[in-house]
Amino acid sequence: MIGEGAERIGDRRFAAKVMSADDAASFIEDGAHVGMSGFTGSGHPKAVPEALARRIGEAHGRGDRFTVGIWTGASTGPELDGALAAADGIDLRMPYQSDPVSRAKINAGEIDYLDLHLSHVAQAVWEGFFGHLDLALVEVAGITADGELVPSSSVGNNKTWLDLADRVILEVNGWQPAELEGMHDIYYGTALPPHRRPVPIVGPMDRIGVPYLRCPPEKVVAVVPTHAPDRTTAFRPADERSAQIAGHVVEFLAHEVKRGRLPPTLLPLQSGVGNVANAVLAGLDEGPFRPLTAYTEVLQDGMLALLRSGTLASASATAFSLSPEGLAELRSDMHRYRDRIVLRPQEISNHPEVVRRLGCIAMNGMIEADIYGNVNSTHVAGSSIENGIGGSGDFARNAFIAMFLTTSTAKGGAVSRIVPMVSHVDHTEHDVHVLVTEQGLADLRGLAPRSRARQVIDHCAHPDFRDALEDYFERALAGAPGKHTPHLLDEALSWHVRYQRTGTMRPEGAEVRRAGGAGPSPSPSPT
Ligand code: COA
Repeated sequence: MIGEGAERIGDRRFAAKVMSADDAASFIEDGAHVGMSGFTGSGHPKAVPEALARRIGEAHGRGDRFTVGIWTGASTGPELDGALAAADGIDLRMPYQSDPVSRAKINAGEIDYLDLHLSHVAQAVWEGFFGHLDLALVEVAGITADGELVPSSSVGNNKTWLDLADRVILEVNGWQPAELEGMHDIYYGTALPPHRRPVPIVGPMDRIGVPYLRCPPEKVVAVVPTHAPDRTTAFRPADERSAQIAGHVVEFLAHEVKRGRLPPTLLPLQSGVGNVANAVLAGLDEGPFRPLTAYTEVLQDGMLALLRSGTLASASATAFSLSPEGLAELRSDMHRYRDRIVLRPQEISNHPEVVRRLGCIAMNGMIEADIYGNVNSTHVAGSSIENGIGGSGDFARNAFIAMFLTTSTAKGGAVSRIVPMVSHVDHTEHDVHVLVTEQGLADLRGLAPRSRARQVIDHCAHPDFRDALEDYFERALAGAPGKHTPHLLDEALSWHVRYQRTGTMRPEGAEVRRAGGAGPSPSPSPT
């Protein structure tokens, strides 16, 4: 068991390595590949990255080159991504980020970014695609007297970093609840082909590993005690449109239960990042299905609320991703939650084999979808990254039902999220079963492309853009050389060109039809 304060470091071999963050950062050299903990603002190192950013700033001040490759679980916090990006200290970032400073530098071409399926990262690093891992910098909640590491509020790729790195720096964060001990399930059974064995999870809460991370003390070069909170991001309060999206989802699931395609307790839920996905969970709390289970990547406020109300019996994930209120709720009642949550490495929380076996119901956000069902989760207007694909592909490709949810317009109504052809594709038409906006739900299963287009335009597009989409589709049907997936290529992409040029997808001088849809009135172009 770990204790409080200094007792969080229970093993003398580790306690002997305690030092300041600045001293620990001196182990990181220019050109190093550093595997850091952190997933959606949880469990990232809080002190050494800022010390490293200072060290990099000093080197740049002397005219010396100093950049590092940063590998993580997913997004982190301003003390890591923000500080290192602001110091121009990152040459390559992978596999996911959502930091405004780092996003701007990536989109300016100043940081190389590799946006990977999160379940693929560990195997890609084991295979050596990214080069050698020089150092692991991992936050833990404590170190037991036997030298076992109690994982923090996220697991991410920490097992892989600790296994592969030459040297290890540990941050021991006394702010993390001691009750985290025992919540994790770290699976040490993964291997590369041809030695790979089945991952033996047959129920969302199955435990197949151990509660601790392992690291030989001789690899540890520094231990830095910290006492700092995780990053929290407030969710937008559920508004009318997200309530309507939730209503369509609940109605659809009820229909699937009635048809006998889903049991009354549904199948394990996966809910992605973003405001809409979070709001839909609130809708499920009012629905008839219970007790539910979740086999998901992150636990957002919505999941926590379902656990609190009892609608959700239990949840498996790799990290928390909570608002300030959600975090306060979790911390005030850890005992109530801890036995109903299991946190796993992301290669297991998102494992395609397990997601397929359990038959997850995947619900993810998106930037836009096209009339044939292709989904763009990552790029605004084709070339600027927003966050990354995260785990949405891991789940969508393998889910029993893959749903993508969004409002039908963005930018105050200037932009239609339903377009003729997506400006970037993350999830192909083959991976997308159901599209939902506040306007309605398009069930694309079993439909050929032309029937899909009619469903998407009729059920998901905002009335202000429906005529233009219908007009496009009719002319594509008449004029496209191939009638299987009819497209007029120059016109399909001109929607995005117009947005890039003017900040709106509305055709110049186009009359706006005010059909009685549920969406908001469009606001003027943001330009
Ligand atoms: N055209 C132009 N801008 C658009 C747009 C579009 N079609 N769609 C979204 N945007 C802009 C929004 O205006 C917003 O920018 P702003 O903050 O400057 O207004 C930004 O992109 C984010 O969009 P929003 O709709 O507010 O995001 P969200 O919180 O609902 O999240 C995603 C949606 C797609 C960004 C989010 O779900 C995501 O990152 N998904 C990929 C990863 C994933 O699915 N992980 C789940 C794994 S478990």
